[in-house]
Amino acid sequence: MSEIMEMLIRRGFLWQSFEIYGGMAGFIDFAPLGNGLRRRIENLWREMFVINERAVEIDTPTIGIEEVYIASGHATSFTDVAIECRNCGRVYRADHYIKEKLGFEVDESIEAVKAVLQEFDLRCECGGEFGEPEPFNLMFSTRIGPGKGKKGYLRPETAQGIFIAFKRLAEYFRDRLPFGVAQIGRSYRNEISPRQGVIRLREFNQAELEYFVHPEHKEHPGFENYRNEVVKLLDKSGEEHEISLGRAVEEGIILNGAIAYFIARTKEFLLRAGIDEKRLRFRQHRDDERAHYASDCWDAEVLTSYGWIEVVGIADRGCYDLSRHSRFSGEDLSIFIPYREPVKVRKKLVIPDMGKLGPKFRKKSKKIADALKSLELGESESDKDRIVVEVDGEKIEVPEDCYTIQEVEVTLHGEKVIPHVIEPSFGLDRITYAVLEHSFDRDTVDGEERKVLRLKRWIAPVQVAVLPLLSRKPFTTKAMEITEMLKKSGIFTEYDDSGSIGRRYRRYDEIGTPFCVTIDHQTFEDETVTIRDRDDTSQIRVCVKDLREVLTELLSSERDIKEFGEVFRG
Ligand code: GLY
Repeated sequence: MSEIMEMLIRRGFLWQSFEIYGGMAGFIDFAPLGNGLRRRIENLWREMFVINERAVEIDTPTIGIEEVYIASGHATSFTDVAIECRNCGRVYRADHYIKEKLGFEVDESIEAVKAVLQEFDLRCECGGEFGEPEPFNLMFSTRIGPGKGKKGYLRPETAQGIFIAFKRLAEYFRDRLPFGVAQIGRSYRNEISPRQGVIRLREFNQAELEYFVHPEHKEHPGFENYRNEVVKLLDKSGEEHEISLGRAVEEGIILNGAIAYFIARTKEFLLRAGIDEKRLRFRQHRDDERAHYASDCWDAEVLTSYGWIEVVGIADRGCYDLSRHSRFSGEDLSIFIPYREPVKVRKKLVIPDMGKLGPKFRKKSKKIADALKSLELGESESDKDRIVVEVDGEKIEVPEDCYTIQEVEVTLHGEKVIPHVIEPSFGLDRITYAVLEHSFDRDTVDGEERKVLRLKRWIAPVQVAVLPLLSRKPFTTKAMEITEMLKKSGIFTEYDDSGSIGRRYRRYDEIGTPFCVTIDHQTFEDETVTIRDRDDTSQIRVCVKDLREVLTELLSSERDIKEFGEVFRG
């Protein structure tokens, strides 16, 4: 086990799920400190991607009825290729196994995997041969209700709950684009053989924003503020760029301003959460790796002990989801966009002649007439002598004498569009883990090696530890009083009187607590306490009456404690 993982388990960040029954790959418990950290990261995300956007947050069921995932394409396309050993029966995810054993990426197709197995005579770890590669659907299926029940799936992404509520959401936003809808919650993927601990979970937490835009204006009003932001990009041909986002859009490396805006906001979010900028890049998906719904996708990847891992995907899903749900549900999921000024256009309408249609088409004539009325002919179609309409799935050619074509002038007040969607999708568990790895550090204090977690002050699960120098009255009572006072101000505070003060400082350094407040002898002489900075161990004295204000300011900024008092030790 890695040193960091040992610490995360020992200190109460992450635990193996179902541990007393031997555990199960792909599941993890977020223990008290890990859960606290992930919640702080989630709240930072909410602040940046909901509160400070034209966006709302909703909460929809994690179980979906089958219809949703047939329409979304997941029932057929959300698959990985599995290979099973004929000897020991072990099943692997083909692309991961090939990468691990042969060191290259393979296209995620049955044919490509088959070709690699043959060419390299790739065997199972037990030496056995693999059978035919098979597609494996990653969704967990379930039955809703008793008996045969109704087929359902645990959601593989939070996004679908947003798409299927789109009609209501558009009304909520009074049909005015652009707008965003967020959802934070559990998603489930029945990964084939998760062997990367906390990185590949079968049940995980997503924070997703679906940002609906006009198809011809894939922009974000906030992009102007980020044009000069320089990012590290790795495009789909493998070329690296260190480039401003404005130029990346101008040069067509990034397709539109909305994606570029969310790349900038994602970078800002990840840095504020504590990701190290030097270990962050944005990588564009190759054509063969994009999800079935995406026309373009950029991943934020961070370098960890597992290599570069995706923590955020920023996808252009176009109108794929809304069009599919519209088609499968029969609901109109377009938005009416009014023009600034009404526009007059000439149109050619098809007027059905029921006298002719009736005898020729009998029962179908009414439906054919309706289909003809809904046709709009273009300029070049003025002399149309052959019209084909579709009625109940059947294509019917309508003879020329069954209709007339009339040219009229109509005033249009707007148009119906199916919005496109730009989706920044965040894996909260992976981000939390990556923040922990990037914050882990070692240094020397008082001649001894120290392990320290340099978490950002605003996301630390324990922000302040209040420590009585001695574990007896009146030190303990004063420390408890101060703990209560800080907790009431919304500061995540812990009281601790166990062990020597040196050991307690080390414990809080190791769990990333930015400040320790110590109640010592002088406290009872002049109503002051010490504040100790985790990062350089320097200390200042502060009056108890100013403590809350000083800590609140320190915890929401990166200001130096020196600004708040004279350093007497450090
Ligand atoms: N919604 C994108 C994903 O779950 O990967």
